[in-house]
Amino acid sequence: MTATTGDIQKAAEVLRGGGLVALPTETVYGLAADAENPAALARVFQAKGRPADHPLIVHIGAAEQLGDWVADVPETARLLAEHCWPGPLTLVLRRGHRVPLAATGGLETVAVRVPAHPVALALLSAFGGAVAAPSANRFGSVSPTTADHVRTDLGDAVDFVLDGGPCEVGVESTIVDVTGGTPTILRPGGVTREELEAVLGGPVAVGTTTRVRVPGQHPSHYAPRARVVLVEPDEIPAEARRAQEEGHQVGVFLPPSLADVPVKAHAVVAVPASSADYARGLYGYLRELDERGCDLILASLPPENGLGLALSNRLHRAAGPR
Ligand code: TXA
Ligand code: MG
Repeated sequence: MTATTGDIQKAAEVLRGGGLVALPTETVYGLAADAENPAALARVFQAKGRPADHPLIVHIGAAEQLGDWVADVPETARLLAEHCWPGPLTLVLRRGHRVPLAATGGLETVAVRVPAHPVALALLSAFGGAVAAPSANRFGSVSPTTADHVRTDLGDAVDFVLDGGPCEVGVESTIVDVTGGTPTILRPGGVTREELEAVLGGPVAVGTTTRVRVPGQHPSHYAPRARVVLVEPDEIPAEARRAQEEGHQVGVFLPPSLADVPVKAHAVVAVPASSADYARGLYGYLRELDERGCDLILASLPPENGLGLALSNRLHRAAGPR
């Protein structure tokens, strides 16, 4: 199941030839291409069905390489890289000349991270360069957290799939703008705001969480086929019954506080009490309810501390206008 040394060598060859490799990371699977090859980057956008002005994340093998890809490394960036890499943190910095505008969607800033996954790090080491990798799903749909999800979503559009097992974190990296002023979270993710503030010993702003204005972030990102509706936990049993009676195939994300409450629905997922477990499972649950034929999913927002901020952001987006 897990990629062998031979697979890694083969994947590095595919990258050198301008091909696309599905890459396991600790957050979600990425669709990787040589970050310095604009033709390969064009194939990434095509495979995802993603507009070409959406910036990609450049993945590198070690924090020490950051200076090769950005114009300068401010102290804030150095500290965060030292403490959080490899890990689910992406830093937005001024673009270095090695990064083509095709990778940044034309921006003069670039998003960079070091993924914490042995297979990803082995590939980056074998390849020698950097890979640009968006999540390996079709544009706007739920991110893949297993190699099978990637195969289902992208099929033949990927030249080689590296299987690294299910992703540990389960939601994407936290994106932090460190180009100047107060560091600002552009997308909450696997590293929490609390952790970032502890590392920096100062405040980290949140770019109004669910209304984040990162280029390339649309309200309906991370959406399953079924319509997602956010409701207060206490209202779930009544809402589920009502929607079932209206003829919907209702899927429910049952919060831990309602674990013992009987709910009339087509399919029920018991939400784990631990936010780490919830994050790890979230995208799989959305896919599962789609597969079970639900056309409506009822979910509640978790408290926005710790990983709850990222969970709440993804649920808002899943429920956003299409
Ligand atoms: O966990 C992750 O970050 C995963 C894995 C594969 O590493 N990647 C991922 O990539 O989520 P993607 O393309 O699905 O999301 C990248 C996000 C987009 O929302 C994009 O707008 C933002 O990063 N981004 C990239 N470059 C940026 C920049 N220069 N300034 C602001 N946002 C940027
Ligand atoms: Mg994505």
